[in-house]
Amino acid sequence: MTDKTLFPQIGGLIHGCDYNPEQWLDRPDILKEDIRMMRKAGINCVTLGVFSWAAYEPRQGEFHFDWLLREMDELYENGVYTVLATPTGARPAWLDRAYPEAMRVNRDGSRNLHGLRHNHCPTSPAFRERAEELIRRLAKEVRGHPGLILWHISNELGGECFCPLCREKFREYLRRRFDNDIEKLNRAWWTAFWSHTYGDFDEIDPPMAHGESSIMGLNLAWREFTSWNMGEYIRFERELLNRVTPGVPVTTNFMRLYGTLDYQDLSKNLDVVSWDSYPDYHNDRETLARTAEGVAFDHAVMRGMKRDMPFLLMESTPSLVNWHSCNKLKRPGVHRLSSLQAVACGADSVQYFQWRKGRGSYEQYHGAVVDHLGTDDTRVFREVAEVGELLKKLRPVTGSVLEARAAVLFDWSNRWAVADLPGLGKECKKYEDVCRAQYACLRRLGVETDVVSPLAGLDRYALVAAPMLYLLKPGTARRLTEYVRGGGRLVMTYLAGYVDETALCFLGGFPGDGLRELFGVCSEEIDTLYPSDRNRAVFSDGEEFEIRDLCEVLRVSDAETLAVYGDDFYAGTPVVTRKRTGRGEAWYAAARIEDRGMERIYRRCLEDAGVELRPMPEGIEYHQRRGVRGTFGFYLNHTDAPQQAPAVSGGRDLLSGAELQDTVRLEPYGAAVVEENLNGGEPVEKALTGFSDKGERAGNFR
Ligand code: GAL
Repeated sequence: MTDKTLFPQIGGLIHGCDYNPEQWLDRPDILKEDIRMMRKAGINCVTLGVFSWAAYEPRQGEFHFDWLLREMDELYENGVYTVLATPTGARPAWLDRAYPEAMRVNRDGSRNLHGLRHNHCPTSPAFRERAEELIRRLAKEVRGHPGLILWHISNELGGECFCPLCREKFREYLRRRFDNDIEKLNRAWWTAFWSHTYGDFDEIDPPMAHGESSIMGLNLAWREFTSWNMGEYIRFERELLNRVTPGVPVTTNFMRLYGTLDYQDLSKNLDVVSWDSYPDYHNDRETLARTAEGVAFDHAVMRGMKRDMPFLLMESTPSLVNWHSCNKLKRPGVHRLSSLQAVACGADSVQYFQWRKGRGSYEQYHGAVVDHLGTDDTRVFREVAEVGELLKKLRPVTGSVLEARAAVLFDWSNRWAVADLPGLGKECKKYEDVCRAQYACLRRLGVETDVVSPLAGLDRYALVAAPMLYLLKPGTARRLTEYVRGGGRLVMTYLAGYVDETALCFLGGFPGDGLRELFGVCSEEIDTLYPSDRNRAVFSDGEEFEIRDLCEVLRVSDAETLAVYGDDFYAGTPVVTRKRTGRGEAWYAAARIEDRGMERIYRRCLEDAGVELRPMPEGIEYHQRRGVRGTFGFYLNHTDAPQQAPAVSGGRDLLSGAELQDTVRLEPYGAAVVEENLNGGEPVEKALTGFSDKGERAGNFR
């Protein structure tokens, strides 16, 4: 086992925030007070420079970096490191005036006017020239600064641009993808339908609001292009940074399961994955535990992109946001709990948007560590300072990772293809919800679970759940087959393997691309139920589970039937099957079976595979992180009542200092982090000397 610490110079977990001193340059008293309060709150890192273009370059060619360097120096002298953003998340007005082509064109063909943020055209050479000039100068200014630990490219990149340059680049992308062979594209996109045949790549336009949107292959290719093009933009900034400040790692902040970018693909351009988490805690739909279950899934998606290293929680709010439909305060204790949840799930940081509320403009009421009141004597500040103290106690956790035995496959292209699939029920596809539900089932059973791309290595998992894997990228079927032959248990559901990577249906039976043989079943028809319709999955021992939304009628050629449909004209036909192949098993669940039913299947697979299950009482979440400094069990109580959980192992609670034996007692919204006595490892204090000295740069990035 090696130390996966990302930033040895910090000597522990990051406690940080977005900080915008450029909004307060006329108030040196406030800037001074900020540093004092940061120390008090245990802040050891800030993210500077997000959206600071106008402060660096108020007029084209006139640069001001003095304020930044002054801040970085002062922060560093006070033990606060810097994550430095490139300022390309928003453009100054002069730039849009001089270079209107830097502004995006919308799906309806209209070009944006200046304003807002996150909306430059990623292709525009004029934009790139201006960005390059500024980023190069900025990087030179901060090169070698001991406080600089990480570059943060732009901010929450996203969206799409339909300008003439992007459209032309899309055509080039298609030429490359289809070997410059328009016939190949016509076949892949099935364009003989409705006389959509293209004679030349130049005839192709993206799916605009008033244009072609009925070709599934085109729609999917446009989504993939948009994501690829953003990746190309990230590489542009990254290469610039790497040239001037080699060795400083690079990230960009992701947004949960953001729809228009394939984060799994984009993460290949980053050294560390980071994301911004803003759940609507205390909403009126669900319990806090349920909301937290969703956040655990989101963390697992982030962790799954670079599985063997920690990720960063780049932003979260200490109190409330300003953009949900109703913006509730985090109740006392919930900020502590959500911060510890991030660490439990593999984050080596808890960072906030934002340090101090701005006086005006769009985010003037967004939560911050320091309110307009301006003091450290507030509930929010005290809770943030408490998190700072707790993170110090959790120093030994730094650089440790989770070791999952199960995985849920999740894929962006599949997501796009399912959403665009013309048919079934409008409201019943729910791909993301179904993936979340499978993750929650596995977590309830008590097995650590990753969420990974179908192209990730699967050997480490005893069980892989592949819900609704409608689109199979090349190589997926072969990998899944090898996984099962090698001893894995694969549970695939309805809507599996219908189309290839261009959204073209497989012939010869679903699931296609050879998976029919793996499962020994073939889906002959798929039935869509009305929201009020139900069917049943009846197992051979008589246990029954409800079915909703989607039911496939199977032909079974070579598999055992474990459950059959209870109702309708396909009553008595197989709904759950299993085929043993090689050393593993391929399970097929042909309908949307309620969670308890899926849990029955997963439990069976996990028990057969000899995986130790650690189920927790309702509302308690447990994760284990392992590293060179020990094994740490996180227990999180997502309820407002005291709870008790069975201890996975005895040991010392790093938060309270108490020695625990068989039971972990948790306060309402409380948590414990038990240094588990599993390997008879070194005492924590001794192992802590493993951190490098302040100033050393080498981390663990890939
Ligand atoms: C993030 C963004 C921040 C801030 C925050 C508010 O999406 O990166 O700059 O706007 O949301 O919740």
